[in-house]
Amino acid sequence: AADPRAAVPQREQWTGQVGFILSALGSAVGLGNIWRFPGVAYESGGGAFLIPYVVALITAGIPILFLDYAIGHRFRGSVPLALKRLGGKLGEGLGWFQVAICVFISIYYTAVLAWSSSYFVFSFDLRWGDDTAGFFTGDYLQTAASPFTLDFVPAVMIPLAIAWIVTLGILAAGVVKGIQRANIIFIPLLIVGFLILVVYALTLPGAMDGLNAFFTPDFAALADPNVWIAAYGQIFFSLSVAFGIMITYSSYRRRRSNMTGAGLVVAFGNSSFELLAGIGVFATLGFFAFQQGVGIAELEGLTGVGLSFMTFPAIVSQMPGGAWFGALFFGSLTLAGLTSLISILEVVIASLRDKFGWTRRNAVLGFGGILAVISLVLFGTTSGLTALDTIDAWSNQLGIVASAVGMTIVVMWVRRKGPELARHLSAVSTFKVGILWQIFTSVLAPLVLGYMLIAKIVDFLQ
Ligand code: PHE
Repeated sequence: AADPRAAVPQREQWTGQVGFILSALGSAVGLGNIWRFPGVAYESGGGAFLIPYVVALITAGIPILFLDYAIGHRFRGSVPLALKRLGGKLGEGLGWFQVAICVFISIYYTAVLAWSSSYFVFSFDLRWGDDTAGFFTGDYLQTAASPFTLDFVPAVMIPLAIAWIVTLGILAAGVVKGIQRANIIFIPLLIVGFLILVVYALTLPGAMDGLNAFFTPDFAALADPNVWIAAYGQIFFSLSVAFGIMITYSSYRRRRSNMTGAGLVVAFGNSSFELLAGIGVFATLGFFAFQQGVGIAELEGLTGVGLSFMTFPAIVSQMPGGAWFGALFFGSLTLAGLTSLISILEVVIASLRDKFGWTRRNAVLGFGGILAVISLVLFGTTSGLTALDTIDAWSNQLGIVASAVGMTIVVMWVRRKGPELARHLSAVSTFKVGILWQIFTSVLAPLVLGYMLIAKIVDFLQ
């Protein structure tokens, strides 16, 4: 019988270590770093949060990142294909589960990308006026308007359509000419732009009060299991592990590639960016509190949509040089979001191609086009805020944890691939992994994640 793989053209490969590292970093550094980490850390013990955060990074984040890398690199396929080669039907099912998570995330991630790029433009003339919350939900998202009238075309439709066209265009161009090139341009730009923003924020009056609020440790928080869950959740989302992304990206690496070395660079690079974002965001919030004559504790809207599209615009309006600061902030959010979105969608595109033998272009235009239409309808006829919260709760909080537990159990226990994967990683990499990695991935991580999963489910049922 003909080899079904014969129909699939030779896999593309990154041109080298730098292309891969920047692309993996581009995936990891996203909205989670900028709008999620600072507020989560602040609310979960401030400086003391760094302890569970580092523990989560070392005991689960990096080990599972290595697991993703090992699977992608050894079994060289999109998620369902790689996991099928590793673990048969069960593995393939798990792979499609990860693909499904990516499909859901892509729908709302694109909307946030569209909002960020609109706000980049709005920064230059501070278009949001004085009532930034009213501007966002009212004027921009038009929550109150009726979608069923003929003259209803929400402003978000145009940036949303552009966001889809740009993202799908990059994906259609391929791994090297599209994904790698975009990341090689955008990630250095993002880092430089964001550094300028943070340095400027530190010079503002009140900045130091912000940093104090952010770093002052509340050690009592460490006794709260929810703080530990928040740390593991943040690490997972932020590193983009157990979504299939790192499996997909590492399947495009050359045979002899320093996998764990690159992994350490990506993991620590991502956490550094996260810490930098915490410093920048809280220095800025410190300035805002100073202007209002209140304490940081009295401010509201310190994470997510509230932070980015309501609080930050208000701060930008009051700041000397606000327009540029706003442009840097929303420009960063846009680049960070775009490079993550590319990786999420590549998981889906690669899986469909491996399964059905489609060309890249057809997969991108066909399936990507369908997703774009769904996203345009969802975010064009509703504000999208409910959709965003719902998808975030199901896929990011339950979905990835379930997927990570499933993956560690299937790979390490059901199919017992731990030793083989450890040997594989060590054979190609400078940083060797051995029994400690296997213990973290097969015992510690599933225990902690299993506990998290149960806690989340109980929480959901209440
Ligand atoms: N890691 C990205 C972030 O921090 C988010 C992301 C999630 C990227 C899922 C890809 C997949 O925002």
